Amino acid sequence: MSDEQARRVQAQFGANASAYVTSPLHAAGDDLDRLLAWGAARRADRVLDVATGGGHTALAFAGIVRRVVAYDLTEPMLAAARAHARTRGAASIEFVAGDADALPFRDESFDVVTCRTAAHHFADVAAAVRQIHRVLRPGGSLLLQDILGHDDADANAFILEVEKRRDPSHVRSYRAAQWNAFLRAAGLTVIEDSLIWKLREWSEWTGRMRMSAEARRDLEDFVRRAPERCRAAFEFRLAEDAVVSFNDRQILIRADRD
Ligand SMILES: C[S@@+](CC[C@H](N)C(=O)[O-])C[C@H]1O[C@@H](n2cnc3c(N)ncnc32)[C@H](O)[C@@H]1O
Repeated sequence: MSDEQARRVQAQFGANASAYVTSPLHAAGDDLDRLLAWGAARRADRVLDVATGGGHTALAFAGIVRRVVAYDLTEPMLAAARAHARTRGAASIEFVAGDADALPFRDESFDVVTCRTAAHHFADVAAAVRQIHRVLRPGGSLLLQDILGHDDADANAFILEVEKRRDPSHVRSYRAAQWNAFLRAAGLTVIEDSLIWKLREWSEWTGRMRMSAEARRDLEDFVRRAPERCRAAFEFRLAEDAVVSFNDRQILIRADRD
């Protein structure tokens, strides 16, 4: 990853680490349940959680496997996740700092790699997927969840601008076919995938990134001025003087190493 993108990620998440630890949308959800069910069916023993954030996915997997490594680029995020895991009595999680595109682990050392709500921050997703393939044992699974790119170019450009204004470390999200291509190129085969919608309450979503009042007003103006069909693609709800919510489409993928 470029130093500039790493600085952006660390600035955004370092300053807001505790908000991610306490975020109910990250602590639980249908998406986490699905990843966990896939993981349980794989009977995994060693799990790597890439871009662990507040550590919620790592914590969930610590309940069903012997060894979990929680990995993240942002040290204050890891510190917050570690403190949270301790309060939950999860002593088996090891916390390691680093970049998704340079995993400091031996080849074939994990049964499952998870990566939830994070790949849209990676400067080079293809490189991260190659690294994940390298550390997975043959037959092991990547369990991935992320925001799904929109097939309509205008709707996609609209939501990308919204995301980047709220969080400058957002790079982009990918469509299902693009994910399939990254995974295939690295030697991973999609076994199962599904789509879910996640409701974003606007004040919580913008508040978590501590946007200034001015930046938030500008973003709300941008949303209001956007073509109706772009807003409709994400089911934006507007009140007279505020944006209320929108719906994020998320993709879940289980892809196995060939
Ligand atoms: C939204 S949080 C992840 C949420 C978490 N996976 C969960 O299940 O609650 C995004 C995290 O990605 C991390 N991140 C972003 N780019 C990264 C990279 N290139 N390598 C490792 N971690 C990265 C950030 O530091 C941040 O902690």
